[in-house]
Amino acid sequence: MPFDNRAIGVFDSGIGGLTVARLIQQQLPGEDIIYIGDTAHLPYGEKSVSQLIEYARRIMDFLMENQVKAIVAACNTSSSVSIDILRDGYPVPIIGVVKPGARAAVKVSKNLRIGVLATEATVKSSAYRREILSIQGNARVWEIPCPLLVPAVEQGRNTAPEIREAVSSYLHLPLQNQADTIVLGCTHYPYLQSVIAEVSGEQVTIVDPAVETVAELKKVLADMQGYARRETGRAIFYATGNTYSFTEIGARFYGRDLGRVETVDI
Ligand code: DGL
Repeated sequence: MPFDNRAIGVFDSGIGGLTVARLIQQQLPGEDIIYIGDTAHLPYGEKSVSQLIEYARRIMDFLMENQVKAIVAACNTSSSVSIDILRDGYPVPIIGVVKPGARAAVKVSKNLRIGVLATEATVKSSAYRREILSIQGNARVWEIPCPLLVPAVEQGRNTAPEIREAVSSYLHLPLQNQADTIVLGCTHYPYLQSVIAEVSGEQVTIVDPAVETVAELKKVLADMQGYARRETGRAIFYATGNTYSFTEIGARFYGRDLGRVETVDI
């Protein structure tokens, strides 16, 4: 059986993508992962499309230099505005989180009223609305920009009272319109899942696109006969700027020490 022991590249603006990397490691324990958090340019949500394309290009070049076999853009903002544009320029499969997230939402929603919490740039792109409507043209979608949440997660202020208040106000419109599904449309938001679920109430399903994204990654690896052949893979973590959130907050969420987080200038 053919195999491919090269690593899978995973990237985000910061520690958000760790929520996807963790799931990859749980479900594909033999795979090596090279993770890069672009903390020098965080938060992505307030950046322009041309800036986001440039950051993604630099990251993908770095990952290609490190011989990855596939790239997971574990960032909704990047997936929304730059992945489709850059995809053709790279010889490896690039998997974003928005299409899988949209698919997952349509699968679980019963009344096809779907709220999407996301960064400002993701909301501005309308990527979730487009993807959801391309699957179910009669769905109703509320995309809500949540500018306070990424800084709160990166600073470890997940449980602060003002964050709960912000979550309540962000959820107001979709909940008022009886949305039965809320998509965590930013990979930082699973860190706030308990607050979001509590405010949403039991009748609302919270969708983390990471689950469907990892399912897609598995399919891509199977199609290219590219699974690694080893028992336990390694994960290496890089940050382009500050590494504090990785060692302090990311590690707590990841459930283990991330080791030395290397700083790279790209
Ligand atoms: N975690 C990212 C996302 O999924 C980006 C957050 C940010 O830097 O604004 O959108």
